[in-house]
Amino acid sequence: MEKIVVKGGYKLNGEVNISSAKNSVLPIIAASILCGDRCTIDNAPMLEDVFVICDVLKSIGADISIDKEHSKININTGTIISQAEPSSELVRKMRASFLIMGPMLSRFGRVKLSLPGGCNIGSRPIDLHLKGLNALGAKIDLGHGYVEAISKKLIGNKIYLDFPSVGATENIMMAAVLAEGETIIENSAEEPEIEDLADFLNGIGAKIEGAGTGTIKIKGVKDLNGTLHRPIYDRIEAGTYMVAAAITGSKIKINGIDEEHLKPIVAKLTECGVLMEIEGNSVWVDGRNEIKPLDIKTMPYPGFPTDMQPQMMGLLCIAEGTSLITETVFENRFMHISEMKRMGANIKIDGRSAVIEGVKRLTGSEVKATDLRAGAAMILCGLSAEGITEISDIYHVDRGYVQIEEKLRKLGAEIKRVY
Ligand code: EPZ
Repeated sequence: MEKIVVKGGYKLNGEVNISSAKNSVLPIIAASILCGDRCTIDNAPMLEDVFVICDVLKSIGADISIDKEHSKININTGTIISQAEPSSELVRKMRASFLIMGPMLSRFGRVKLSLPGGCNIGSRPIDLHLKGLNALGAKIDLGHGYVEAISKKLIGNKIYLDFPSVGATENIMMAAVLAEGETIIENSAEEPEIEDLADFLNGIGAKIEGAGTGTIKIKGVKDLNGTLHRPIYDRIEAGTYMVAAAITGSKIKINGIDEEHLKPIVAKLTECGVLMEIEGNSVWVDGRNEIKPLDIKTMPYPGFPTDMQPQMMGLLCIAEGTSLITETVFENRFMHISEMKRMGANIKIDGRSAVIEGVKRLTGSEVKATDLRAGAAMILCGLSAEGITEISDIYHVDRGYVQIEEKLRKLGAEIKRVY
């Protein structure tokens, strides 16, 4: 099984370039189903999850070519077979595949697909997705392991989300594009990736206002066409490299950031003593000061992102004092704690919170990546630990980080992938 092996204690220097956002590109590829035309995604991240959702669209007849050399994806969804059922093996492989439900229902009036699996960080229910589609007039049939939605014509409606779910906001927004009349989504998720998806949808001819706020208005349209789209940068990848600078006591430059999207991450890193200077789409990160302890509570955007929680926990393992992290978004996103304790971290779980007593230094060990962001966090811990850290189950990390070991090696880390 592939592993990443890190020899800790090396300072980082130089510059790293951030790729575009996985959590933008996945819903955008799903949304391309709506237009039945040719779309091109420029500067797309060449990631396992992106390849999987392309395979899901291919399984229903889309014509897709991925130009890995130029990070470009060309999609023609005019060839999709309307009554096709996406491959259940692929849909179960990646939860985000469920985002094809809204577009398929909106364009073809029927969709049947396997229920998305849960994963290590939580049960990941879809009740808010289905409640929204039902409010637009879809008849929902929940079978054993699959869900079917049928509707001759979706009709716009006002929908209040009990929780600002990113996926539910995206699925409902996409379904409403070809619905009759206006849809208003209240208490919608405000993540930057939602805004990027709305930009793509408006690019193919949708009429969406308010994306990125808590109220999104979608006026149904009849005709759509293809478009070219360049996604936003990946704020979580950028945040991960900011923590890499902090945990190794280094100063590096990160190219490919959006200051607005990084606000919660910059705020908390500043609070623990990291110095940052933003220059346009780049940021200098100076982590050479002592890391001060702090309290973090993950929240929907613009709160502190849950996708940065494991990385920050790794950093706080070596802070000068006691820190508290409360995970409010997912019910089981502390799997990385037992792995960090194998490296000498002093962490106690108390319900949805973890108390971290900083230690002088972590010690290299054999650890596992328990999910995508946890795996990235273990690599960060390895960068700072005494000795060698071997991280197995590294496939989790490849789902969301483009060439992570190459990018870190270019910064001066002693890191390699072994097969
Ligand atoms: C998206 O997942 C991201 N994935 C996740 O990133 C991210 O952690 C999450 O949003 C929160 O920001 C993609 O965009 C592909 P949610 P999503 O629906 O849409 C509950 C990563 O590491 N919920 O906002 O699945 C759910 O159980 C991944 O890149 C319901 O109860 O997240 C969870 O507790 C991990 N019912 C909370 O909402 C529903 O119908 C947040 O889920 C839907 C969600």
